[in-house]
Amino acid sequence: MSITLTRFLIEQQREANALPPELRLLIETVARACKTICHSVSKGALGEVLGSLDSENVQGEVQKKLDVIANELLLDANEWGGHLAAMASEEMETIHRIPNRYPKGEYLLLFDPIDGSSNIDVDLSVGTIFSVLKAPEECSGREVTEQDFLQPGTQQVAAGYAIYGPQTLLVLTIGTGVFEFTLDREIGSWRMTDGPMQMPQGNAEFAINMARRRQWSPGIARYIEERIKGTEGQLGKDYNMRWTASMVADVHRVLKRGGIFLYPADSRYADKAKLRLMYEANPMSFLIEQAGGAASTGHARIMDVKPTGLHQRVGVVLGDKAEVETVVAYGQEG
Ligand code: AHG
Ligand code: MN
Ligand code: MN
Ligand code: MN
Repeated sequence: MSITLTRFLIEQQREANALPPELRLLIETVARACKTICHSVSKGALGEVLGSLDSENVQGEVQKKLDVIANELLLDANEWGGHLAAMASEEMETIHRIPNRYPKGEYLLLFDPIDGSSNIDVDLSVGTIFSVLKAPEECSGREVTEQDFLQPGTQQVAAGYAIYGPQTLLVLTIGTGVFEFTLDREIGSWRMTDGPMQMPQGNAEFAINMARRRQWSPGIARYIEERIKGTEGQLGKDYNMRWTASMVADVHRVLKRGGIFLYPADSRYADKAKLRLMYEANPMSFLIEQAGGAASTGHARIMDVKPTGLHQRVGVVLGDKAEVETVVAYGQEG
């Protein structure tokens, strides 16, 4: 019988000494909140959770009901445990400090409550992405600020995602490899079903939104055009394309089956990119690197980017190491 998430975390704490007890509590709490989100997502129309609200988030996106519900569930679950100093989310303009009535801890939690929102109403996979940082030591004894969150991805102490698909999974790293847990709904526990995971290399499959072709740099355009030519070009093999429009689903496929995921620099946005560094690109990069892949902005390692804002956006090219290196090399040509 596969081990539970709880047992895995306790063993990591005890044997590998890789996990402080407070961080274990934090991960358990996030995992518990994801179970509740899973419940809401799967109720769908019966739970009256589908559709949009009138509100917009700080990204200028119309919020789905579930964006707000999942955000509240994560805040409520994590506020009172004493393991956090503050939280930040795609759906909140600024940080959420732990209210004074609760004890404060030393960790900072960032999340994308529902990733792939556009897929909720059409019953495709969505997910929750999270990233954990340590609050800088100098902020004990004073209020946590947004600035305290602006640490590069290399500083993450844990990252993961839940995916609400045909199965509900939790994929997690604390820097000791990547582990997958499947939610056993009858029992209500997460059981390890894969790990330590190493992503297959050499799979001829790419994920990109082709409709953004006009916004691509010459390097990205060359990379994709060569792959579309396949056996009729220089590469000698045909490629396949998949695009779910839920980063969790696309990255999960890359992790399990290999290939490359690209949401490259995009001139429509102020930061010239769509995906958010702190709660999308960084946690996914940590997971992909831990699984033997690579993650780049198209020019530099994502986890080395020094953040300048909570909602900063970056180009994302991640997955198969050799493919990511090719994209970066083409980028240098202009
Ligand atoms: P979110 O739903 O959290 O705003 O994220 C959406 C992101 C990501 O999940 C996905 O890869 C991408 O947007 C899809 O964008 P397009 O609709 O441009 O394909
Ligand atoms: Mn969104
Ligand atoms: Mn997202
Ligand atoms: Mn989202």
